Amino acid sequence: MAQRIPQEVIDDVREKTNIVEVIGQYVQLKKSGKNYSGLCPFHEEKTPSFSVAEDKQIFHCFGCGKGGNVFTFLQEIEGISFPESVQKVAEMEQIPLQLNINPQTEVVENSDQKKLITLHEKARDLYNHMLINTAVGEAALDYLQQRGLDDSIIEEFKLGFAPNQRDFLVQISRREGFSDDIMERSGLFIRREDGSFVDRFYQRVMFPLNDFRGKTIGFSGRLLKTAEYPGEDQPKYLNSPETELFNKRVVLFNFDKARNEIRKQGEAILFEGFMDVIAAWRAGIKTGLASMGTSLTEQQMAAIERITNQVIIAYDGDSPGMAATERAITSFSNHSRINVSAVTIPEQLDPDEYLKKYGAEALQNLFQHGRQTPFVFKMNYYKKDLNLDNENDLLTYLNELMQDLAKVQSPVEQDLYLSQLADNFQLSKDSLKQQLQLARNQVRNERRQTNVQSAPQVAVQQLSQTEKAERMLIYRSMNEPMVREELIAGGFQFVHDQYQELLLYIDSYMIVHGNFILADFLNYLKDDGMKQLIVDISIIPMSQDSNEREISDLKKVIALTGLAEEIKKRQLEQLEARKTGNQQKELELTVQIIELTKRLKQA
Ligand code: UTP
Ligand code: MN
Repeated sequence: MAQRIPQEVIDDVREKTNIVEVIGQYVQLKKSGKNYSGLCPFHEEKTPSFSVAEDKQIFHCFGCGKGGNVFTFLQEIEGISFPESVQKVAEMEQIPLQLNINPQTEVVENSDQKKLITLHEKARDLYNHMLINTAVGEAALDYLQQRGLDDSIIEEFKLGFAPNQRDFLVQISRREGFSDDIMERSGLFIRREDGSFVDRFYQRVMFPLNDFRGKTIGFSGRLLKTAEYPGEDQPKYLNSPETELFNKRVVLFNFDKARNEIRKQGEAILFEGFMDVIAAWRAGIKTGLASMGTSLTEQQMAAIERITNQVIIAYDGDSPGMAATERAITSFSNHSRINVSAVTIPEQLDPDEYLKKYGAEALQNLFQHGRQTPFVFKMNYYKKDLNLDNENDLLTYLNELMQDLAKVQSPVEQDLYLSQLADNFQLSKDSLKQQLQLARNQVRNERRQTNVQSAPQVAVQQLSQTEKAERMLIYRSMNEPMVREELIAGGFQFVHDQYQELLLYIDSYMIVHGNFILADFLNYLKDDGMKQLIVDISIIPMSQDSNEREISDLKKVIALTGLAEEIKKRQLEQLEARKTGNQQKELELTVQIIELTKRLKQA
């Protein structure tokens, strides 16, 4: 619920917060000099142009130009309002918010999105209640316990049970006053021809699917087979359909819970099924993610890339799992900077089955010591349909491998694999080297072509000398009260209105606040363009302090162009007056132009 938050509270939250820590939960940041940098979460990029200044408590992207303070960041990335962003920061930093909720100022946000989420979270809690507290849920609870899921896991993932009753959730939703429209859009129901609703999920163990913030936006239900309900024609897992909340191309199971741990450990593990994510969690591995039964999408890779550059693929050990691993390796290496490795689960098991058979320690060991580089994975994988005793098959095999080996960056690694291959198949290392050279040339040609196609798309802003000077002068006014006071007292005129306006804003802010805190000033500015401008200005590389000479030079540059523009304007008016035969006006303007020109010469 959004509400007005007093300025002192906002200040308090901001002061106790470090922007680097907050942004670090969304973006993998590296220290570079006095700032931090990383891949911008607001636009697609391959090289980092996103920068966070710890001293100024602001962020800025040199690629797309977005910038602001910790609140602006959360507003943008989470799509929330300003008060919500303050609350969110307070939550993250565990700062208690003492808000006196005044019903007069309380704004009840009743957006449809919120209603849809509320409906999902009501359903989640109810399914959970059915599972743990009722006789109806007993069989499901038994089933989960059989699979090794204890109370704490059920609580952690808020698992539930949808009973075999097709109006269970319909009734609840009606009672809670959700409209037909919201019910239809939630995807939790199926609408019959007569317009009535029935539950989509019934007789299923329910797994809530959350967005990156941890809000429940969909479900996956696993069929619970019992003697009374064999459910033969039903799919094992049933997911929510695509809705305005739920897009399975975007969702990653467990992303909300794993994000911090992934950042801390510097790596994520990618599973095929979410039961595997839960299995890993039970074994103490809390960095697991899974897509929703589809292959990995660009959006999902981008989300992962924002928090880590190391991914371990741990798909099922069967043949479809291996094929999916190969595809995932290729996608990662083509579309991201992520270093990927693969773990093949022995005996064609999936990680969940492996845990059950060999225990937590064995699973941990596998992830620690069973990692294969993409190339080693492929050395094994390409063998699968070939008979390497057959010369033709062996040639096919080596051919494929050389294409991959050519893409291996490290020469040491390349050499090692060459030796291994030569040993394994009793071949001369030199002839393998030659083959590798051929493959290399091919790869290089391919690269050259793609490079031509994708020209760099950097938005460079071209500023005039005047505007550069205006920005520098604003920079000094922000940081040095003397400069600001002098400009105000002397009635200094900027050429461009936005700088005049900024100076006035800075001045009135300073009168109230006494010292200038950029991150706070951003809250004070209402206009997004203005906010952007002040952030752009604040990152101009300038010396620590100004001196008189610098300030007078800047003023001169601005004043001169100011005068020059003024003269140009009057000359145009003069021309206009001459055309319309207004002699009086023409004479007035001529006098003014002479006067201005004299001043320009003196300056
Ligand atoms: P699996 O069948 O490998 O799941 O499907 P699992 O984790 O081993 O399931 P259990 O152990 O039998 O309970 C992997 C993923 O594919 C999707 C789900 O997202 C699942 O996590 N899937 C699978 C479906 O969407 N529908 C299905 O019918 C089956
Ligand atoms: Mn399984």
